[in-house]
Amino acid sequence: MNRNRKGEISLTRVVGIPSSRVANFLSFQRDPLQFLINALPLGEMVSLRTSSFRPTFIVNSPAFVQEILVHQEERFRKGRSSNVLRRTIGDGLLTAEHERHRQQKKYLTPVFYKERIQAYAEVVMEETERLADTLQEGVMVPMHDVMMQLTLGIISRSMFKTELHEAKTELAQAVDDTIRLSAKTIFSPIILPLAVPTPKNRKHLKAIRSLEDMIYDTIAEARRNPEQYADSLLGLLLDTRDDQGDPIPDVEIRDQMMTMLLAGHETTANAIVWALYALDRERSVDERLYEEIQDRPLTVRQMREGQSAFDLYRGLAYTRQVIQETLRLYPPAWAILREAEQPVEMLGDHFPANSSFLISPYAIHRNDRVFGDAAAFRPERFDAGISQWPRFAYFPFGGGARGCIGSQFALMEAGLILAVLARRFRFTSAPGQGEAEPEPLVSLRIKNGRWMIPHRRV
Ligand code: HEM
Repeated sequence: MNRNRKGEISLTRVVGIPSSRVANFLSFQRDPLQFLINALPLGEMVSLRTSSFRPTFIVNSPAFVQEILVHQEERFRKGRSSNVLRRTIGDGLLTAEHERHRQQKKYLTPVFYKERIQAYAEVVMEETERLADTLQEGVMVPMHDVMMQLTLGIISRSMFKTELHEAKTELAQAVDDTIRLSAKTIFSPIILPLAVPTPKNRKHLKAIRSLEDMIYDTIAEARRNPEQYADSLLGLLLDTRDDQGDPIPDVEIRDQMMTMLLAGHETTANAIVWALYALDRERSVDERLYEEIQDRPLTVRQMREGQSAFDLYRGLAYTRQVIQETLRLYPPAWAILREAEQPVEMLGDHFPANSSFLISPYAIHRNDRVFGDAAAFRPERFDAGISQWPRFAYFPFGGGARGCIGSQFALMEAGLILAVLARRFRFTSAPGQGEAEPEPLVSLRIKNGRWMIPHRRV
């Protein structure tokens, strides 16, 4: 029992997990998603009964999520998860804490203003059409790799004004290595510094260098031709001055570019692969989607003759619902982690300093009591908008001061990619792959990717 803020006695909302600490650790390591799903019905906040030095909790109720991400956000840090990512992306917007984060968010926000997103929409259309032109009837493609390269090309053109051309495959491989090696470390008990020359660390450092080389080359090129980069993230970073009038150091520019590159393309790529997978399984959804897009001018040529790509996207109500439903069942950011910097009281319960909280959109989005037949892929459930559910029952982009800065970009990008591809092709999973298994790396992927076969619609 606890006393709440008014001093009234309240029953605790925290329940202890019944299994032992070792059993929990092993089953989490074996299958984190199933572990989180199993913990969902246990209670609003589930204590893993770990050491008193670092008590760990799984957060299941939207009310607690809101406390952590919004109401008491300043009492929490990202902590350990950021420390792992920081080895690759440095101290950019995703990993910086407190004042440093606040300053960065202020200067980065204009990159995501609506007018900018309208311009990025044209890049999305062009890149997606270019890809669609290469797809051939009946010739299967590794959809995860294809989408990673597409979204990598889009992010580097829209944020850095850089075309990757032949470097794309190599960079995509470097990104993949980085993600795998980071994901392995986030939940492992020991974090070795990258300087320790293990084979994994050497591979990780090599991948980071490939990405850095591209980034530093682009910074140098932008310094030589500033007017060409004027309306890009890179141009903005080069023009920004701090309160003392000093420019942003190159290493901080590198960190922000690395952050946008990594945070800004794998998530969207995964969402689209999941959406195509779900559309193949739910033919009625695919038919309704096609009904919406079949008569739309979804090509670059038609776009240039009239409507803007962004307006086209805004007219695609059902396509957007398909993306929203994809992000519900397969949220790329499957886990959001926080640590209490000081003792904290939430909803009448007390938590000691250093408590760790694991918030999983993946599990919370699968709550039958909120979503009814939650495992079913039904975009129609978004007909009545997301305000029909409690705040933080559906939150694929997190929320509060640390919510996703790229959410509007991502929704537009995923919606347009899906519409352009699905207007020309229906995709089926190549035979012999069975049901897709989710793989929770830094972002939620389909394990082993997915080979898909394009079938021309028209
Ligand atoms: C479907 C695609 C995406 C999903 C599901 C997603 C999800 C998220 C989530 C859940 C967070 C909050 C993490 C936390 O609270 O710990 C986040 C943060 C962030 N995202 Fe996204 N994201 C997506 C696309 C993008 C894109 C396209 C960009 C950039 C172009 C981007 C850049 C960022 C950055 C920089 C942050 C850190 C924001 C901050 O701490 O202020 N994301 N994202």
